[in-house]
Amino acid sequence: MNQFETCDNREELERQYKYLELLKKVVADLKELKNRDITACVETFGCQMNARDSEKISGILKSAGFKVIEDENADLTIYNTCSVRDNANQKVYGRLGRLSTFKKQNPDMKVVLCGCMTQEECVIEKLCTSYGFVDLIFGTHNIYRFAEYLFYVYEGIENKEFDDSDANLYKKGNTIISHWSETKVICENLPIDRKYPYKSGVNIMFGCNNFCTYCIVPYVRGRERSREADEIIKEIENLVKDGVIEVMLLGQNVNSYGKNLENPISFAELLRRVEKIEGLERIRFMTSHPKDLSDELIEVIKNSKKICHHIHLPLQSGSSRILKKMNRVYDKEKYLDLALKIRREIPDISITTDIIVGFPCETKEDVDDTIDVIKKVGFDNAFTFIYSKRTGTPAAEMPQVSEEFVKEQFDRVLKCVQETAREQVVKIEGQTLPVLVEEVNKQDESLLTGRLENNTIVHFKGSEDLIGKIVNVKCLECKGFYYFGEMI
Ligand code: SAH
Ligand code: SF4
Ligand code: F3S
Repeated sequence: MNQFETCDNREELERQYKYLELLKKVVADLKELKNRDITACVETFGCQMNARDSEKISGILKSAGFKVIEDENADLTIYNTCSVRDNANQKVYGRLGRLSTFKKQNPDMKVVLCGCMTQEECVIEKLCTSYGFVDLIFGTHNIYRFAEYLFYVYEGIENKEFDDSDANLYKKGNTIISHWSETKVICENLPIDRKYPYKSGVNIMFGCNNFCTYCIVPYVRGRERSREADEIIKEIENLVKDGVIEVMLLGQNVNSYGKNLENPISFAELLRRVEKIEGLERIRFMTSHPKDLSDELIEVIKNSKKICHHIHLPLQSGSSRILKKMNRVYDKEKYLDLALKIRREIPDISITTDIIVGFPCETKEDVDDTIDVIKKVGFDNAFTFIYSKRTGTPAAEMPQVSEEFVKEQFDRVLKCVQETAREQVVKIEGQTLPVLVEEVNKQDESLLTGRLENNTIVHFKGSEDLIGKIVNVKCLECKGFYYFGEMI
C-alpha cells in the first residue's frame, strides 16, 4: 500500500527520487541475474515512531522492486533499532549473530542497521569493531536518504552520481556509515508502505526537548520539530481516501505540538482540525507529558465524537522527590490532580501509564508513593520498566540502587498494577461497545482481535472479512487487561 506524504523540501526530494530510480535498475538487474525475486526484511525493535519509520523504509524497498518478506534470511535485512533500555540494545547484538550465519550461507546478502541505537557513536564503533559484516549504518535523522545509501551499498560509494551534500558519509572497512547528530529538515514525501490498510500512525512532531534525566530519546531523536498543521491534515485526508479510518498522532510529547512553528498552534486546535476530516472515525494520540496537558485539550476530547477516550499519561514515579531528580517538572500532587480531573470530566476514559522502578536513589518509601498513585488513579493498564542506565544521560551518574532491591520493588508495583487494572477494566463487563477489528488472533485463529475505543483489547468469534471494520461486541469475560466478547 503506497501513499505519499507531503513535504517541505523539494530539492532533497528530487534527489531521493533520482536515487530511487537508480536503485530500481540495480534491483531489476539483480532479479535478471538470479532469475528470482530479490527479498528484503525490515525488523522493528522500538516504539510507534520506530514502526512508522519502518513503514517508510519498506515503502522505498517496495518502490525499488524488492519483495518485502517477514523472514530475516533475506537478500537484504534491515534492523530498525531502539536504545531506550539496555535490553533493547542487547537484543539487537544477539540477533546480529544469527544474521552473520545467514550471510555466510549467502555472501550476497546485505545487512543494514538504522534507528535510535545507531545514533550513538559508541554503538557505531562497536559495530565496526565486532560486526564488520554490516553493510550500512545510518540513524534517525537521515532516514529519508535510505534510497541513496542503499544504492551505494550495491554500487559502491565511489559511484556517487550526484554532488555530495552528506559530509558525514564515510566507509570504514566494508561498512558504509552516515551519522548525523542533528537535523532541521522534515522530508517525508517518499513512498510509505503501511502495515495496516485501515489504520495508520501520523507523525505530528519529531524529537524531544524535555531531557528527562534517565532518557536517551532527546539524544537520539534530536530537538523537537513540529510539522505544519496543513501538511498533517493533507496527509490524513489522503490516508482516509486510501481507506484509513483510524489515525494515531505521534510525538514524544504531543501536548507541546506547534509551539515552534512560525504560526504557533496548540495540540487541541490541531485535534479540532483533524476531527473535521470526513470519513475519519477514530483519532488517537501518543504520548502526553503530564506537564503540558491543558484544560483546552480535556475539553476537546470530552466534546469529540472521534477522539478516542483513552489517554496515555506516563507517571514514571509517584514520588515527588524522584520526579524532581527525573526532571519531570510535575510532582505527585500535580499528577494526581490532573489524572483525577480527567476522570471527573470524562468518566468513561481509560488512563494508561509508564512507570520506572529502580531509578537512582529510589527507596521503598518512594515506591510506596508510586503504589499510592496507582491505587488512587486506578490505571487501566501500565507499562512497568526496570530502570536502565543509559550512558550519557544525567541519571547514569547518580547513585544506583541494588538489583535485589529493584526486583522486590518491581514485583510489588506489578502486582498492584494488575489488581487495579482489573478493577478498572471489569467496569464495562456486560456492555456492548464498538470494536475496530484489527486482525485474526495470533494464538487462536478462530478468533478476531479488536480494540474498544478506550484501547482495551477484545477477542471474539467472527469472519476475517470484518478486519478494518467497526462492529458491536458484548464484553463478556474480563481477563485483566483484555476481554473475551461476542459480536452482536
Ligand atoms: N516521550 C514519552 C516516552 C518515550 S520512552 C513520554 O515521556 O511519555 C517510553 C518509556 O520508556 C518512558 O515513558 C519510560 O517509562 C521508559 N524509559 C525511558 N528511558 C528509560 C530508562 N532509561 N530505563 C527504563 N525505562 C525507560
Ligand atoms: Fe524521554 Fe522525557 Fe522526552 Fe519522553 S519526554 S522522550 S521520557 S526525555
Ligand atoms: Fe526506542 Fe527510539 Fe522509540 S529509543 S522507544 S525507538 S524513539
